[in-house]
Amino acid sequence: MTQATLFRRWAPLAPRVPHLIYGGDYNPEQWDEAVWLEDAHLMREVGVNLVSLGVFAWSSLEPRPGAYDFIWLDRVMDVLHAHEVKVNLSTATASPPPWLARLHPDSLPVTADGVILHPGARQQYSPSSSAYREAAVQLATRLAERYGAHPALAMWHVNNEYGCHVRECFSDASAASFRRWLEARYGTLDALNNAWGTSFWSQRYGEWEEIYPPRRAPTAVNPSQQLDWRRFCSDVLLECFELERAVLKRITPDVPVTTNFMGFFKPLDLWRWAEREDLVSNDAYPEPADPGAPVDGAMGADLMRSLGRGRPWILMEQTPTAVVSRPVNTPRRPGEMRLMSLQSVARGADGVMFFQWRASQVGAEKFHGAMLPHGGTRTRTWREISELGGDLARLEPVRGAGVPAETAMLLDWESWWALELEARPSREVQLLDQLRASYEVLWERNVPVDFVAPHADLSAYKLLLAPNLYLVQGGMAEWLETFVAAGGTLLMSFFSGVVDTREQVFAGGPPGPLRRLLGLRVEEFVPLVQGQENRLEPENGLSFSCDLWADVLELESAEAIARFGNDFFAGRAAATRHSFGLGAAYYLATRPDAGGLRWLLERALNEAGVRPTLKTPRGVEVVRREGDGHSFLFVMNHAPQPVEIIVPPRARDLLGGDLEANCLRLPPKGVAVLEVEQTR
Ligand code: GAL
Repeated sequence: MTQATLFRRWAPLAPRVPHLIYGGDYNPEQWDEAVWLEDAHLMREVGVNLVSLGVFAWSSLEPRPGAYDFIWLDRVMDVLHAHEVKVNLSTATASPPPWLARLHPDSLPVTADGVILHPGARQQYSPSSSAYREAAVQLATRLAERYGAHPALAMWHVNNEYGCHVRECFSDASAASFRRWLEARYGTLDALNNAWGTSFWSQRYGEWEEIYPPRRAPTAVNPSQQLDWRRFCSDVLLECFELERAVLKRITPDVPVTTNFMGFFKPLDLWRWAEREDLVSNDAYPEPADPGAPVDGAMGADLMRSLGRGRPWILMEQTPTAVVSRPVNTPRRPGEMRLMSLQSVARGADGVMFFQWRASQVGAEKFHGAMLPHGGTRTRTWREISELGGDLARLEPVRGAGVPAETAMLLDWESWWALELEARPSREVQLLDQLRASYEVLWERNVPVDFVAPHADLSAYKLLLAPNLYLVQGGMAEWLETFVAAGGTLLMSFFSGVVDTREQVFAGGPPGPLRRLLGLRVEEFVPLVQGQENRLEPENGLSFSCDLWADVLELESAEAIARFGNDFFAGRAAATRHSFGLGAAYYLATRPDAGGLRWLLERALNEAGVRPTLKTPRGVEVVRREGDGHSFLFVMNHAPQPVEIIVPPRARDLLGGDLEANCLRLPPKGVAVLEVEQTR
């Protein structure tokens, strides 16, 4: 583990906001100037230092094609500047004005069934439409030229939640750009025919024009074609981002650029996206009534930090109270918004923002929570927003600190896409379910986790989890072998090592190129229908239930550490361990219940020598941030009752909580941030 990476304090996310960032989406185009002044004043009052401006303002900025109106935005920028509020200026390209569709009907997105998505809501553009692209680039150029030197400008917010509503577009323009993309990937039709295995079902292509996006067809579309379609859909949106980013970087090379992600968003290969950003930002809307929300929140936050390769990130959007998109939108209860905001900070966020600043009186989101609700400042929401502003000011010493982790989880979008295509042995095998189940066990134990991309540098990690690595890219088996041979512990789970990047099954069957590392062969798959169960029985007399799937294994050099209890493969290995070089590769052939997963993960954690940050009662989450010799322990109580925790000696709570000697008392939803002595 390299100390330099561990203890370095990162630079501010935006040089013009050298503080923990606090703010929200600001939509002044919905209000008149008197309200702008009141807004700026109230922003100051609660410590807001950054707002995302203009996210849905395209039709106000360019009311007629090519006729721009920046006067109102000039004034808003000046008002904000006068009140020392900086701006995360959006390129406003997420929702084209209605005139784009009138002039260019072919800019509208089309579904797999051929349905055109019309104006009247938002995001009605095809990423392959040249009319959309040209208009978007024009607008971004004008904005960069006009505001590049404005003292309020702190960063660029490109578009908004790429792919949020339109993840894929099957229009003729998309078909043409898919063909170009395929030509660039394969060069010749022969290469494409071979990769896609088009001799199956008489699909052999003789001309590029014969190829379509996977539009609605009589039955299952060629899976290799579908996998390439997933790649293309991520790439074509990334191309839109790149077009705008290039303009911004040309005109304002020093202004950081971001676009807001949506957590574990399957349509976009976020590793490739994050590489193109100066900083990562995320929108998170957990369901307040879901008891699992703290685990999901932590997992999403860890992904964001990991996408930025350890750099701090911004929680760009969340709601102070409720959203409006669910059938029933129950609000976050008192203290929940603070708890979840500080959970993000614990896991590396250097900024906490909201959708939105002031509640709208019009439109489809008028019942969405806002920092300043319809009821104004005499509201619980406003009090909580003011308190959070105060907390963030007190947490300033934390800014720039990193989150050290010894455990990593592999997340490969290509494998995720392929795993969940149609025509699999079981459609119920979903990657996020498996990731989350393991993550939850680590979360309960306060074991910090980084997510890693294929071929990432693994030298900082002792334990690597790789659930359902269905698709194995070239060089990946060697990459995993190097990690284990050097002393790492790997835990892989069922239905792994099945296909290559073309979606073709490895000769000899699974686990394909992972066979040497795992020391086993999969003889057959046994997916289990709902209600079918088996037993996972470790050698020590324990017994756990398992379901969903069973790989029937033939062990070569691996040893069984648990066996199946029932069915025609009773007595065959259900979990294995294989010594490889200085390390060990575990394989789990089924989905055990929570107890079974805990048993196996405990064993892997022990073997790897991974220690928890702190042992705490159930429901208490602890995360450490470190930077430049400073160490901060975030202690968060998600449990419904008060807790007492023994913490390291000589700690100081930056939030001024109930800490006596080394006994910390936290009420339900309470948070302490302890500055502690560096222990390593
Ligand atoms: C996000 C979006 C915001 C707002 C918010 C409501 O998806 O970026 O503009 O719509 O959801 O929860």
